Amino acid sequence: MVSDKAKPLLRVLAGRNVARTPWWLMRQAGRYLPEYREARGQVKDFITLCLTPTLSAELTLQPVRRYGMNAAILFSDILMLPYALGQSVSFRDSEGPVLERIANNIGVAQLEKAGAIGRLEPVLEAVQRVSAALGPETAVIGFAGAPWTVATYMVEGGTSRDFRRVKAWAYRDPQGFAALVEILVETTIELLSEQISAGAEVIQLFDSWAGVLPERAFARWVIAPTKEIVTALKSRHPDCPIIGFPRGAGLLYQQYAAETGVDAVGLDITVPTGFACAQLRPLAVVQGNLDPVLLLTGGVALERAVRKMRRAFAGGPWVFNLGHGVLPETPTENVAMLARLLAEPIAVD
Ligand code: CP3
Repeated sequence: MVSDKAKPLLRVLAGRNVARTPWWLMRQAGRYLPEYREARGQVKDFITLCLTPTLSAELTLQPVRRYGMNAAILFSDILMLPYALGQSVSFRDSEGPVLERIANNIGVAQLEKAGAIGRLEPVLEAVQRVSAALGPETAVIGFAGAPWTVATYMVEGGTSRDFRRVKAWAYRDPQGFAALVEILVETTIELLSEQISAGAEVIQLFDSWAGVLPERAFARWVIAPTKEIVTALKSRHPDCPIIGFPRGAGLLYQQYAAETGVDAVGLDITVPTGFACAQLRPLAVVQGNLDPVLLLTGGVALERAVRKMRRAFAGGPWVFNLGHGVLPETPTENVAMLARLLAEPIAVD
């Protein structure tokens, strides 16, 4: 049971109503913050940032200090897992992540499963540091990429336009591809379990590319691995709520919420509020889903959209978030305005 004194995010994720909707933003730490750009300039690359606990803890706390979100999401990246498995991963400024592609079973066999989580020890130390620094209104969120999304990067070698390599592999040789997914399931369970032991109070699973699969493949590569991870984590850490974010899942959101066992679903910007409240909320708590471009735009457009959302989602458990990450060009004053709007009493006009 979650007590009345629990942090607001934890109460809402347990299905309770609270006076004020808890909020946090995907990519709340990042380039839109001048203090992030300053810290980023001090180290040669992004991976070093993720593996230096004092820095990654500091970056995790930066947005919370400025805006008072109800959660601090660990500063790391979903691609730290392939990195820990021995795959070469680099983050280039204008291209995004670049990975050495895994094309077949030989590539899978070369992954260094033993010791992978040990290589992420600094990430766990960052969780401990953040956990020790937070007050009673802010929860620590740990995270990982869901296996399907992480596999897309490992097989495509980066972001992709049509995902033809990874899909072709999954269609042609489902058993071979399943060996890669299984490694990701096992190591993700270990990684998340360690994050919870280090102080993470909530877990979010990012399945950013869930929306590129048809129904049957979605069941096999999105729902089944997610369910395996959720089941294992629930048996080890029954009190830690899990948010699943199957971005782009469309009508399959319902099946995802019904079958994976997640406590909450993160909604992308296309999920209609009516569908979320009527069809999804009976199955899981809902989180989302302001368009990040509205936060970038600011002004009256942002004000109207936030007020409208708050009225529409009132009446049931809801965590305010964006439908995807904060855009790097977002003016900091727009985030300040959002914080003010979310602190207002809900107007009934
Ligand atoms: O504030 C937070 O949300 C916590 C930190 C976080 C990052 N990445 C930091 C980051 C989290 C939770 C992620 C998740 C992540 N990473 C996802 C899932 C969410 C999503 O956006 O769909 C994905 C797909 C990735 C992979 C990734 N990492 C890409 C595609 C890129 C490059 C594009 C970009 O937005 O810059 C990254 C790099 C990255 N991850 C940065 C940050 C702050 C930028 C690195 C830099 O400053 O150079």
